[in-house]
Amino acid sequence: MNIFHRLFMLYLYLCTPILFVELSLFLYYAFKNTPIPSETKDPVKLRLYHVVSLLVFRLGKISERLGICSQITFVRFMLNMTPAGEKSNLSIRDTKFEHVPVRIYQPTSPFTQPRKGLIYLHGGCGIFGSNRGYERVCRHLARKSDSVVVYVEYRLGPEHQHPAQLLDCLTATTYFLNKSKDYGVDPNSIILVGESSGGALVAAVCRELVKRSTTPKIRAQILIYPFLQIMDLSLPSHQQNQFGPALTRPRAMKLGLVYMNANIQDVERLMNNAHVPEFMKMKYKKWLSADCIPEEFKARGYKPPPPIPFSKELYEQTRLNDETMLSPILDEDAIVQQLPQTYLLTCEYDLIRDDGLLYKKRLEDNNVALTWNHMKDGFHGLIMFVDTGPLEFSCTKTAIENILKFIRGL
Ligand SMILES: *[C@@H]1O[C@H](CO)[C@@H](O)[C@H](O)[C@H]1NC(C)=O
Ligand SMILES: *[C@@H]1O[C@H](CO)[C@@H](O)[C@H](O)[C@H]1NC(C)=O
Repeated sequence: MNIFHRLFMLYLYLCTPILFVELSLFLYYAFKNTPIPSETKDPVKLRLYHVVSLLVFRLGKISERLGICSQITFVRFMLNMTPAGEKSNLSIRDTKFEHVPVRIYQPTSPFTQPRKGLIYLHGGCGIFGSNRGYERVCRHLARKSDSVVVYVEYRLGPEHQHPAQLLDCLTATTYFLNKSKDYGVDPNSIILVGESSGGALVAAVCRELVKRSTTPKIRAQILIYPFLQIMDLSLPSHQQNQFGPALTRPRAMKLGLVYMNANIQDVERLMNNAHVPEFMKMKYKKWLSADCIPEEFKARGYKPPPPIPFSKELYEQTRLNDETMLSPILDEDAIVQQLPQTYLLTCEYDLIRDDGLLYKKRLEDNNVALTWNHMKDGFHGLIMFVDTGPLEFSCTKTAIENILKFIRGL
């Protein structure tokens, strides 16, 4: 049975009265309870985005219950349905860097000097994402910055476990650093770009290359509302933005656990950091705690999490004991000091806003050149709306313009 047959069956099932009522109630509550920031210029679109993203996961759950396909398969399929965007003035081709599939976007206009090269590491919790879903963003970046963009199709979880994702990204990056001249790219102008969980990959690749003293060096890293750590899951932004828009706290927890193949039902204790042993909390407090978040970001109500007994099981299942899982936020100063120039975008209405703010502090404390934009009306996922015409948010336009400005200035 192909996916279209399955979707047609899902459609038939959805027409049955019980499911119809279930879905109607679901939509009603999702619509009613959408958190809409007062600053937003596009309240209707934002509500739509929130409801549709919840709905996709819900339909995925229903199709799983009916034995049609797994929730993950369903969500992946839906993400691939997004339009590809404007193709003109670009040559696009698929190839492999070593064993890693990549898609390369090259401007067709003649060039007088070698171009910049952007390596794009997509988000999606390490579970979702394919070149189809990110086509628009890559095309936009290549055309507007006149750079060569390399989209990396790294292996996804939970089929492929950590550190497969990081290893693929490292392989693709070192290959491109070495072979960039074949693509008309200056090896000293290679920039890594990542959003959400792709931000974690970008930061981790940069730190690995620093540790290996690789030359040529990465010119810059661009982190767009990055996910960067799982050691404190009760930061102010986790509390303030727990209901979304789109990325809700329970959803993020569940997806993280799916990615790690962890069998944990009790997300509540995880949210209160029961997975972190006391010695780790103490050791990393100076870099990773609500104390490092400026007061202005706590204004929308923040309560320190209640003390909670440590759970060895949670500790092991979240793999905090795994050295390779250690966040770049927790690297020693000697490593952080050597990181490339950084562009960081944070959004006020983002569950993981504070990951970015904590990383920002580490970079600043270590004198790494940093360009920081904080979008007061921004939300997690805004970059996905680039070049979507009437669906594009005004904050999407501002964000992408700022990123392009940074790239052009390098
Ligand atoms: C493609 O290039 C031509 C010539 O430089 C330009 O006029 C046109 O606007 C470009 N198209 C897009 C979509 O950028
Ligand atoms: C770079 O390319 C050279 C020659 O093509 C090769 O010998 C070397 O191993 C490559 N280095 C990396 C890091 O891939």
